[in-house]
Amino acid sequence: MPQIMKHLIRISYDNDRERGGGELSSKGMQGEQNTQYSNLKPSLKFCVPCLFGIEGLCADELKRLGMSDVRAENGRVLFSGSENEIARANVNLRTGERVLLVAGNCNSNTFDELFEGVRAMPWEEYISDNGAFPVKGHSINSKLHSIPDCQRIVKKAVVERLRSRHKAEWIKETGAKYQIAFAIMNDTASLYIDTSGAGLHKRGYRLAGWESAPLRETLAAAMVKLSRYRGKESVCDPFCGSGTIPIEAALAAKNRAPGLSRCFTAQDWTWLGKTIWSDAIEEAKSREYTGDYDIWGGDIAPKAIELAAANAQRAGVSDCIRFDIAEAADFKRDIAGGMIIANPPYGERIMLPGEAEDIYRRFGKAIKQLDSWKMYILSSHSEFERIFGKTAVKKRKLYNGMIKCDLHMYY
Ligand SMILES: C[S@@+](CC[C@H](N)C(=O)[O-])C[C@H]1O[C@@H](n2cnc3c(N)ncnc32)[C@H](O)[C@@H]1O
Repeated sequence: MPQIMKHLIRISYDNDRERGGGELSSKGMQGEQNTQYSNLKPSLKFCVPCLFGIEGLCADELKRLGMSDVRAENGRVLFSGSENEIARANVNLRTGERVLLVAGNCNSNTFDELFEGVRAMPWEEYISDNGAFPVKGHSINSKLHSIPDCQRIVKKAVVERLRSRHKAEWIKETGAKYQIAFAIMNDTASLYIDTSGAGLHKRGYRLAGWESAPLRETLAAAMVKLSRYRGKESVCDPFCGSGTIPIEAALAAKNRAPGLSRCFTAQDWTWLGKTIWSDAIEEAKSREYTGDYDIWGGDIAPKAIELAAANAQRAGVSDCIRFDIAEAADFKRDIAGGMIIANPPYGERIMLPGEAEDIYRRFGKAIKQLDSWKMYILSSHSEFERIFGKTAVKKRKLYNGMIKCDLHMYY
């Protein structure tokens, strides 16, 4: 590799610096020296990508979990911690999309620079000698924009590093998966290893898809957080579809960790302490609350209600949610104080704009008698407030997939 750009390479070796030295043999990666190895990694760096608009909520969650150096940036939150935090973050996070272990950052003005930068990162500390390490990534606003070429360079650099450090002729890649992800932005590459596998929005309770634009679980959890629901008031979603909002509200009310019944890719990593996952699950379970919660979901489609009930059952929260086939325009309650958290149709994906407007108008009339209720309604319709007949106290910009929406907040 040409030497000419080497002096320009800037690599962050935070892990190396903080670890205080000590090379690990590939034998140690196989498990026998787990504890000793664990002690060598007091402060790993992590990055949690999240939906735009909810970075602050995700950062709050991480702070509450006791993570260090939590910093929210555009579309992601950074933090640091020990290997235990890999399990704790994956099991507990409601609003983060995945937990990435940061391998390092380097300049990436040229392929040579990218190669040298990636090769200098301590991959052998994370990837066992038979680990499989596919590479994927993206590039924004940078000279290196060909993703297949960047993938090839990153792969080659990691192979070279591992071959020399594991003293192996050939990397077999028959073992656990260490998905490498790169993000190149403004000619700087950040390199990660994904600890989650399937995105954290995949809690495991929503097996069958509801065709009417189901809300991502992480976004539903964010809406529940923004409503400041603490398990006390009645919560209603009159457009519940597959039940995502009521289920996320129930999980929040019970303080039940969303990742208790799914797997994470890092569970197969041999260098992680054997008990970190069971410890994280036990800790999460010990923090659950018990109580009587009043959560309701309604939808005009019988199929939606059937699915929502099955999903709630799978999530283990069917004891605190009632579901009914119901027309939102007939929504009535005779209790003072309660909250509506809802994601009605926008007229973009599942309905014509005129039909969505008709629903807003009729639902707006129905809730006129519920003046003391708080409402949190997500819609991308620019005229939502006018048609609904009520000006929001506050609006919060959120993205539902690629659709820019406002959470209309009434309190
Ligand atoms: C955007 S989807 C909600 C998706 C839901 N948040 C989920 O995660 O599955 C809107 C839902 O409103 C329901 N809907 C449409 N018109 C309705 C009406 N007049 N009354 C009640 N529900 C209605 C649809 O059946 C659909 O399930």
